[in-house]
Amino acid sequence: MDKINFFPDDLNIQSQKIILRLDFNVPLKNKKIIDDTRIMLCLPFIKELIGKRAKIIIISHLGRPKGVKDTSVSLVPVYKYLKEKLETNVYFYVGNFDEEVKDKFSHLKEGDVILIENIRYFKEETDDDENFSKKLASLGDIYVNDAFSCSHRKQSSIHKITKFINKKFAGPLLKKELDAINVIINNKREPVTCIIGGSKISTKINVITKLIERINNFVIVGAMANNFFIYKNFNVGKSLIESNSKEVVEKIYDKAKKNNCKIIIPEDCVVGTSFEGGGVNKNLDQITKNEIILDIGPNSIKKIKQIIDQSRTVLWNGPAGYFENKNFLNGTMSIAEAISKNTNEKTLISVLGGGDTLAAISRSKKKLSFSHLSTAGGAFLEYLEGKDLPGLSVLK
Ligand code: 3PG
Repeated sequence: MDKINFFPDDLNIQSQKIILRLDFNVPLKNKKIIDDTRIMLCLPFIKELIGKRAKIIIISHLGRPKGVKDTSVSLVPVYKYLKEKLETNVYFYVGNFDEEVKDKFSHLKEGDVILIENIRYFKEETDDDENFSKKLASLGDIYVNDAFSCSHRKQSSIHKITKFINKKFAGPLLKKELDAINVIINNKREPVTCIIGGSKISTKINVITKLIERINNFVIVGAMANNFFIYKNFNVGKSLIESNSKEVVEKIYDKAKKNNCKIIIPEDCVVGTSFEGGGVNKNLDQITKNEIILDIGPNSIKKIKQIIDQSRTVLWNGPAGYFENKNFLNGTMSIAEAISKNTNEKTLISVLGGGDTLAAISRSKKKLSFSHLSTAGGAFLEYLEGKDLPGLSVLK
């Protein structure tokens, strides 16, 4: 298999314009960054490039604005954050990408940083547009993708940009992520438990069925579990569900049976009548039509903890409940604490991934430790599935 070109330490980059694709897709509330983990992890490399006197042009997306200049997902808060953390000139670019765009970056001096406003304000980005990619590439001399978490996207700043620039590399954070996940894939110890949360089962069906072939326990939490409740004929009130999921769930149970993989779904839950208020514990057969399932209940937590205690490898992606409201954070936090404890005390191999998972555990007051904390959600799962990610294959 071809190897990925990683950014060489000894490359002379003084005065060179580096297009650096990062993932600053961080959670915001009232235009304030709630969890800065993803940015923080990028800072050492940015500082290294500043130290080597390169001119740094940063590209990132935030949210999914679908080609519309939606100010609620502007990168201004990230720009302010960078200005505070980096001891150099930090600029912000809000213009278009026309033929003259190159000249607009000519003022950059050695060690300067410029952050481009949310690249998904341009529809051409998500279309992986040829012309747009060419213009993006024309901004710099070297391209570095240090956003593993975006590398499953076939989009301009990740994918087609590489067609128009000769010197292209994967950055050190991406390398660290890949190394850690490869260790898990190659040296995983059984029993292996995979905990998956989040909402959309249809987008994760492929990875789930692939993983089932290789793991012993598959724990389903979060809104995804609602589809399993429906399958088992429970009423889920106003909870989030996906249409036509019965077939998907059936496929998962079938595959699990064939591969001797145990499927564990929550047996009780915390429900509320709105996302903002408080909640009450309920068994699955007690949910009324106005209620929303917002977290897993105490019996489910106990069972999941037991499974974690018996596991030697745990992979986790996606919170167990609506963690944004502290009343529904308990399930997610209990899972995080159980994994951390076992990682510390019993050498459990633990890999956690995803923006929401990172944001949820950053709310813990305790110091938690894991074998690897991945910034990636979708990319992490697709890589585990064994897919060749578009953003990585172009760097080989
Ligand atoms: C993520 O949060 O997983 C990455 O930033 C990718 O975002 P996307 O799923 O909107 O492409």
